[in-house]
Amino acid sequence: MSEKNEGAAQRFIALEDTYGANNYLPLDVVLTRGKGVWVFDVDGNRYMDMLSSYSALNQGHCHPAIVRAMKRQAKRLALTSRAFRHDRLGPFYKEICGLLGYDTVLPMNSGAEAIETAIKAVRKWAYTVRGITEEKAGIIVCENNFHGRTVTIVGFSTEPRYKRGFGPFTPGFTAIPYGDADALEHAITPDTAGFMVEPVQGEGGIIIPPSGYLKAVREICDRHDVALIVDEIQTGLGRTGRMLAQDHDGIRADVTVVGKALSGGMYPVSAVCAKRDILGVFTPGDHGSTFGGNPLACAVARAALEALQKENMAENAREMGDYIKTRLSGLKSRLVKAVRGIGLLIGVELYPEAGGARRYCEALMQKRILCKETHEHVIRFAPPLIITKKEADWALERIREVLGR
Ligand SMILES: Cc1ncc(COP(=O)(O)O)c(C=O)c1O
Repeated sequence: MSEKNEGAAQRFIALEDTYGANNYLPLDVVLTRGKGVWVFDVDGNRYMDMLSSYSALNQGHCHPAIVRAMKRQAKRLALTSRAFRHDRLGPFYKEICGLLGYDTVLPMNSGAEAIETAIKAVRKWAYTVRGITEEKAGIIVCENNFHGRTVTIVGFSTEPRYKRGFGPFTPGFTAIPYGDADALEHAITPDTAGFMVEPVQGEGGIIIPPSGYLKAVREICDRHDVALIVDEIQTGLGRTGRMLAQDHDGIRADVTVVGKALSGGMYPVSAVCAKRDILGVFTPGDHGSTFGGNPLACAVARAALEALQKENMAENAREMGDYIKTRLSGLKSRLVKAVRGIGLLIGVELYPEAGGARRYCEALMQKRILCKETHEHVIRFAPPLIITKKEADWALERIREVLGR
């Protein structure tokens, strides 16, 4: 620890605790710099980031091409609002639609905003295209879902902790068990407008549905003319070893929502990609956002998408994900109940007797690995997709020291 910085971390933590709302319980590491898979704290210690800001940093910290694009655009034009057109929007639309296989896109900022946008679009589509009676459109969601933190979204969460104290909530949502295609078939009524689902429940504890689940729900939604909304905010853009997680099942949702890594962690950028008859229901004045689709966001997102493709990050996620998962599964440990994952979205579930995942995340931090518990007993390992085998071995050695007992 340098003398200059001695006590700096404590001062920053005290400032946060004095002035900030208490809605997070971060690990007490104060970061100041990042590069690739590595981050550095104010005392000069280096850590491997194995959370990637909940998959927003698929391209790694401060990816040079994304930083360059951001700097260049920031000096040129940052914001116009959508009151005027700008020369970065159209090229971004074309790029993302071409890459993800959609007709139309609507850019927003955060993931939750994009989910709200998808819900609005599907409800309006239900009334104007499907002919469902006004105010009746229903959306089916899954138990244990996580789609963000707005009042509407937490209203259909099944996690009491997320919703307690925040009601009354938006009506029109029904929850069914995750991974159960028959449950969807049974839950659909003539008023069902949409079904919204995560390909893997990330916040829910890295829960992977049975193989072929999305293919089955695609077929059910087709048969009942129900819009399939797939939330790829965490799983999309290479994280699971394919550009979209739904690619594993060879399907295209009617609406796919992406965010997080769409900007390589540089800036909040999200997007709703959909079939034209769904997003086409919006007319001027129906929906908007001052910052959504701004020039800086578009320039950053294009660079982020280009980096993903040029550097074959999805392939690396698949290879490194398989490698890390196999090595973790081979760990001899009385603490580990299960290792599951797809690509570089990996969960290690600990036995309840281990006393909760948090203490092991703290122990891993002492070994210079940053990761976070998800739910009480699961540690999520989700490093940037650029991780090399050498870096993975470095991490695995330390994970073994903490969990291998
Ligand atoms: C699957 C999923 N949907 C939506 C969100 C919400 O995104 P944001 O935090 O950008 O609002 C998240 C964030 O973790 C997520 O994992």
